[in-house]
Amino acid sequence: MTIVPAAEALDLDAETLAGHESVLYCRDEETGLRSIIAIHDTTLGPGLGGTRFKTYPSERDALHDVLRLSQGMTYKNAAAGLPFGGAKAVIIGDPRTDKTPELLRAYGRFVDALDGRYVTAADVGTNSDDLDIVGETTTHLTGRTVAAGGSGDSGPDTALGVFVAMRAAAERLWGAGGLKDRTVGVEGAGKVGGVLTKLLLDEGARVVVADPDPEARERVSAATAGAVQLAEYLGGPLEVYAPCALGATVTVARVNELGARLVCGAANNQLPTQDEDAALHEAGILWVPDYVANAGGVIHLVSGERLGRTRDEVTADVKRIADTAREVLSHSADAAIPTGAAADEMVAARLAAARA
Ligand code: NAI
Repeated sequence: MTIVPAAEALDLDAETLAGHESVLYCRDEETGLRSIIAIHDTTLGPGLGGTRFKTYPSERDALHDVLRLSQGMTYKNAAAGLPFGGAKAVIIGDPRTDKTPELLRAYGRFVDALDGRYVTAADVGTNSDDLDIVGETTTHLTGRTVAAGGSGDSGPDTALGVFVAMRAAAERLWGAGGLKDRTVGVEGAGKVGGVLTKLLLDEGARVVVADPDPEARERVSAATAGAVQLAEYLGGPLEVYAPCALGATVTVARVNELGARLVCGAANNQLPTQDEDAALHEAGILWVPDYVANAGGVIHLVSGERLGRTRDEVTADVKRIADTAREVLSHSADAAIPTGAAADEMVAARLAAARA
């Protein structure tokens, strides 16, 4: 196995990696492993972020992805108040054909060589079962199966975090009991959307759930005794839009088409471009930034499994997402800046204070 700085392996100029503390490239001939670990910022603690297993058109594309994702993890972990910095890894290849136990063990050795400066987890193309194997060669990971001592499905905690953030934002817009009798559209009835739907119904909201997968619709219908309106794709009129399926769906045009005034959901990278942050603000649409609203997942992974907190403490940590959402929305209103910019500013201030 060879581990070298990515700048050397991929012949990059220093500017490409600017802003990252360390970016390493690993190749293991025996197992076919090709992987990049990017550590963006360890001011708040070891870099924590998942491992994406994916085919890329080129190693440069993989590098671009891992740099962007590791920076995003610095913001997400800091906004969640976790003692972890930001990092991310990619394994280049097709998870359906290239993922072997030997390759995962070799990847674990790569993670281990960083001596805990990077803590890995699952992401697109990897899951808890894979982490159990990675865990044979490193202890610097979180998110193994419950059977292996891990914390299991993070979906319910992610849903709880989205729910408390949405309720805090709704109260800002509509006053106390802000979600009661509001029509909320949940896009995606998966592990997060399904639980979020139940929380919303308990709060007295009307819920429209959209999912192209008939089995997912069936599951949510059964779990709620038919109390929700089902659709294949989300349409209006709504008051709240909760994107819990894919990224890049939140645009002014789409939100206006749905008639929503508030957007709060679990999907990562909800805005197709950074410009949309200002556009939403100007259009009077209240957007709770994705990395603030969906931090319940990473809190779930870290609090119980790495920090040894009890179930009740983890729930309390997740519920504090409401306070963060309130802070972001207040800062946005006071400074007359978009909510995404407000969240970024708060995180930058937190990092600067920690550095000082
Ligand atoms: P999931 O894979 O369990 O569910 C996603 C659902 O969205 C599926 O049922 C799928 O059929 C549906 N879907 C796909 N395209 C759709 C469309 N155009 N309209 C409506 N529904 C559509 O995923 P999960 O775990 O519920 O996560 C949801 C989102 O939240 C993902 O973007 C994920 O990256 C993000 N997220 C999840 C976390 C977690 O703890 N599970 C943590 C942080 C973010």
